[in-house]
Amino acid sequence: MAGKPINHPTFARIYTRVAAYAEQRGGAEHRRTLLAGLSGRVIEVGAGAGANFKHYPSTVTQVVAVEPEPHLRARAQQAAERAPIPVDVLEAAAESLPGPDERFDAGVVSLVLCTVPDQARALAELFRVIRPGGELRFYEHVVSERPWEARVQKLADATFWPHVAGGCHLARETTPEIERAGFAIESCERFPFKLAPLLPADPHVIGVARRAAR
Ligand SMILES: C[S@@+](CC[C@H](N)C(=O)[O-])C[C@H]1O[C@@H](n2cnc3c(N)ncnc32)[C@H](O)[C@@H]1O
Repeated sequence: MAGKPINHPTFARIYTRVAAYAEQRGGAEHRRTLLAGLSGRVIEVGAGAGANFKHYPSTVTQVVAVEPEPHLRARAQQAAERAPIPVDVLEAAAESLPGPDERFDAGVVSLVLCTVPDQARALAELFRVIRPGGELRFYEHVVSERPWEARVQKLADATFWPHVAGGCHLARETTPEIERAGFAIESCERFPFKLAPLLPADPHVIGVARRAAR
């Protein structure tokens, strides 16, 4: 795999538990919304422990799920065995996705564009592998619209947060970057979703973006 190896065993253990907790408190519904109506061949980037896999509709014929972190990838492989649709879990990173140009009908990112080191590069790769007219489905936490909260998020990003949260950033805008990469946002719902009152990773967005022709 090109780039710096990613290895976060402690984060992987904690995040797997947090994701399971979130699943029971609304996260499962968000993931179903994220994936509803997808069909054909899908690439999921930064699949983590595979929390999305069980929510893919049966109209999806194949998911190629890439995950660079080895502990999460092992869990994703287990989740793939229980998935209702075929899922291939691969070692790869957003910056260098597997497969030729325009191979996939859709791409999926959930809680990943907060973490990739270079959003523009990750989105350029998604643009490359999704066919013209295909979809990018996104579920992300983004920077707060409240100025004081955004200031706290920026301070956390510049100090401790990425170190304790597997490289995550709190103050990314994300949706403008999706558009800059050549996707037209067709729907985007913004909503609060806090697992604990003081957790700063909020608000969230779920949406659909359409890949333009080159
Ligand atoms: C907060 S977790 C989200 C996992 C999963 N997508 C979910 O919805 O639960 C962030 C994920 O991004 C992955 N990640 C970090 N850097 C990455 C990169 N450069 N390319 C792809 N995935 C990356 C992490 O290993 C981790 O699985």
